[in-house]
Amino acid sequence: MAGVSVQAFRRQGRRYGAGLVCSEMVSCAGLEHRNERTLGYLRVARDEHPLAIQIFGSEPDVMAEAARMVAAAGADIVDINFGCPVRKVTKTGAGATLLEDPDRACAVVAAVAEAVELPVSVKMRRGVENGSRACLIVGPRLVEAGAATLTLHPRSARQMYTGQADHALTAELVSLVDVPVIASGDVTSRARAQSVLATTGAAAVMVGRGAQGNPWALRAIVDGDEAGPAREEVAAELILFVRETVRELGERRASGFLKKFYGWYLGRGRFPRPFKQELVQLDTTDEVVTRLLAAAPAAAEIVERLEAELPDPADEILLDTMPISIYGGG
Ligand SMILES: Cc1cc2nc3c(=O)[nH]c(=O)nc-3n(C[C@H](O)[C@H](O)[C@H](O)COP(=O)(O)O)c2cc1C
Repeated sequence: MAGVSVQAFRRQGRRYGAGLVCSEMVSCAGLEHRNERTLGYLRVARDEHPLAIQIFGSEPDVMAEAARMVAAAGADIVDINFGCPVRKVTKTGAGATLLEDPDRACAVVAAVAEAVELPVSVKMRRGVENGSRACLIVGPRLVEAGAATLTLHPRSARQMYTGQADHALTAELVSLVDVPVIASGDVTSRARAQSVLATTGAAAVMVGRGAQGNPWALRAIVDGDEAGPAREEVAAELILFVRETVRELGERRASGFLKKFYGWYLGRGRFPRPFKQELVQLDTTDEVVTRLLAAAPAAAEIVERLEAELPDPADEILLDTMPISIYGGG
């Protein structure tokens, strides 16, 4: 998820039982131009595998080159975005727009599959317009072009995130292709995951918004462990998330980026209502950590344990093409 799936999010997802995690979407044009911020998305840590890195774009050659960089960075899967509904992306002919241009979509998948040894997966919406069934026409063709799995978020691009994911469409897609289909959309609980799997025949479910600030949802879905976290666990996960994100993005970018996470995390752990607002107003992430430790002193010990389990940042793959500053954050 763009603006969400930073490395700390992916690592946390793995710790709480996610079988596969995915990067934010990465612009193939940004990679082509060696944009420093874009290259930063290709940072892969040892404890993230299996990891998919998602690329978006509409030019087969440029997407193929981006896929080679993704493979060199150490990803396990190259995922292609044919679902993004945001205008900045669709107006360039990328994202969900490609669902209306099956020939080009197939050319992109074929070029990427040809460029790398890794499995290539595709993430789609149902189509651009409400009620569209484009995914059922394009999906099987993408498999022919080389897609090893398809993930379907059965909302239209127009819908953005309104209404509900129509998983009847997921079931239809499953019946049309002989590769695993992953169901994405509105899976927030174990009961919902089980019902989507049972009614669609999908090979897996993907959890998006349900895991924002709530890794415990993943544990509940995977293990049936519905016990909510204690306050110190919430504080500890948030502190680790803050520190890791500062390491990845640098303090200046991270402090703004993190604000939305405070509300997501503090929905659990019985924090007083004004607490979230207090955190949002603090200037530095150090102050945020200090406030969290004051509110939940027992979090310190948990954070220490979690940090001790993190792999050494020096183990990350360094690409020749990347400026060294990428690895220091900022
Ligand atoms: C903030 C946000 C960013 C997203 N970014 C991406 C993205 O970069 N690539 C992608 O394939 N889907 C993206 N999605 C869509 C999700 O992957 C998922 O398909 C959708 O949110 C429905 O699943 P959910 O109900 O579990 O959230 C994003 C969703 C949200 C809310």
